[in-house]
Amino acid sequence: MRRYRRKYYDFFSHFYDWIINLHSKDRSLSLRHYLAKKTGARDGDTVLDLCTGTGSVATVMSEYVPKGMVVGADFSMGMLIKAREKARRKGLKNVFFVAADAASLPFRPDAFDVVTCSHAIYELTGQTRKFALEEIKRVLRRGAPFCMMEHEEPRQPVIRFLYHLRLRSMGREGRQIVKNEMQELKSIFSEATREITSTGKTKLICARK
Ligand SMILES: C[S@@+](CC[C@H](N)C(=O)[O-])C[C@H]1O[C@@H](n2cnc3c(N)ncnc32)[C@H](O)[C@@H]1O
Repeated sequence: MRRYRRKYYDFFSHFYDWIINLHSKDRSLSLRHYLAKKTGARDGDTVLDLCTGTGSVATVMSEYVPKGMVVGADFSMGMLIKAREKARRKGLKNVFFVAADAASLPFRPDAFDVVTCSHAIYELTGQTRKFALEEIKRVLRRGAPFCMMEHEEPRQPVIRFLYHLRLRSMGREGRQIVKNEMQELKSIFSEATREITSTGKTKLICARK
């Protein structure tokens, strides 16, 4: 199953940025900057962007830690190739992309000062999400922040219908993610807070190890 999902993302990587631009129209990456600022990352920090995709958050985060380092991890080689191209185009020297499964990270404990994850926690189904959250906690240093961004339930009726259809397609679990996300996070991290961004379309959840 995981192999098919990886292949799906490899294929999707060719259109991913184009579709995101079309959908969000956020060409200045303001939401990614908002996420980056919320982490409170300081120059010199070591940051992990989990399920980095084409590296949009990782490359933005690198601006906040020019003397530090950002690692973008994803299990899709297609996505990683696009992410590396993006970092090269921007001339970034402190961003590295590695192939890794969120449920089993190849990093030592307490390795990161910040972990981010954008639009991917909902993609992790079954035990994968639980293991991934445990892994995030393991690789974060004590007291360090984990910040994730996801779509908020849309207000526009047709879009809301499609949003719920997507959740339903993920089975009972899809619906449970949204209902129980704060409880799930609070059971693993401390100080979990949730806010809706000014667009009303995106939510940001931050917690600490
Ligand atoms: C919707 S994309 C989000 C990409 C990026 N974070 C962003 O905000 O544009 C979800 C990403 O999660 C990755 N992903 C899904 N399951 C994963 C897993 N088990 N381990 C690592 N990456 C995974 C996919 O390859 C894909 O790049």
